[in-house]
Amino acid sequence: MDLTDLADRALGEIAAASDVAALDVVRARYLGRKDGSLTQALRGLKDVPADERAALGAAANEAKARIETAIDERHALLRGAALARDLGGPAQDLSLPPRLIRLGRLHPISRTIREITKIFATMGFEAVEGPELEWDYYAFEALNIPADHPARDKFNTLWIESAAETALARTAAGGSAASERTPAVTQRMLLRPHTSPMQIRVMEERRPPVRVVVPGRCYRFEATDASHETVFFQYEGLAIDEQLTMADLKGVLYSFARQLFGGERKVRFRPDYFPFTEPSAEIAFDCFVCDGEGVTNDGRCRTCSGSGWIEAAGCGMVHPKALERVDYDPTRFQGFAFGGGVERLAMLLTGTPDIRLFHENDLRYLETV
Ligand code: DAH
Repeated sequence: MDLTDLADRALGEIAAASDVAALDVVRARYLGRKDGSLTQALRGLKDVPADERAALGAAANEAKARIETAIDERHALLRGAALARDLGGPAQDLSLPPRLIRLGRLHPISRTIREITKIFATMGFEAVEGPELEWDYYAFEALNIPADHPARDKFNTLWIESAAETALARTAAGGSAASERTPAVTQRMLLRPHTSPMQIRVMEERRPPVRVVVPGRCYRFEATDASHETVFFQYEGLAIDEQLTMADLKGVLYSFARQLFGGERKVRFRPDYFPFTEPSAEIAFDCFVCDGEGVTNDGRCRTCSGSGWIEAAGCGMVHPKALERVDYDPTRFQGFAFGGGVERLAMLLTGTPDIRLFHENDLRYLETV
């Protein structure tokens, strides 16, 4: 067949190919390596008489070039059209709804404890922790509160029934405990009602200078209300050195108040009584909501109940008897201690009106503070 006719027919089919797949079929038909028409024509050249071969070869190459160019152009056109169709069609949303990731956050009590320990760290206080299950000795005895001391009354203690006591009780009830070996009852255990036992534990372990702050969970047997819980947190501070005075205590707590509540907080000390400090005091900060006025634009300040002061902690100079107990020479070493409630501060910092909201762990509330 005439090569020009062959190319013309190919061009017609190329123009008629309506998509890339159809175009590929046309390409195979003419240029296919094995049995494409043009390929076969080129292959047949060897049988052509030599004097015709050059002209025929040139014609075949020209036909091949025309077909290839036409295919390339048609291919580009079809691809462009297909793309335009895809882009112009109705928008498709290929995304799956993502799995919701609930971001966690620290509990306000944890945040407050971190804030407290961070502030005391700026003044050289190391944060340490102690046991929640405590011996009578550390909780009371070593803190100058012997068994018959009236100060025990205010601690509403949750005692632990020891194995020995249980055995004794069972014996009395006619149980089989008589055959059990009954250990001597030397000490009772309790859920610590304050963090102060750590004063003794730390002093037993270290020699002065001592500077620690002890955050931790405490327990008391009492009815709950907006400001009382049976489980709560305290932070305890202890500093022992050769020349510490009440002025250092004041300075440290003053700085604490300013760093926690900002501005120019004032500190009020009033005499108080604790068996393990002498002298003892109660410390309050002037209210940061009403600036110590006791009133706001809405009337009586609710944050401080109109008093202008926020009571924060018990404190004092460590009692010489407590120092002697841990073999510190009270004529050489003195120090101060303080202990306050964490929830109290957390309530103030987050505007939480009821302590129970912290411990119910209802996310509907906790996510808002
Ligand atoms: N532990 C005392 C309480 O829970 C508070 C306290 C008072 C702690 C005086 C102290 C202190 O360190 O020096 O009532």
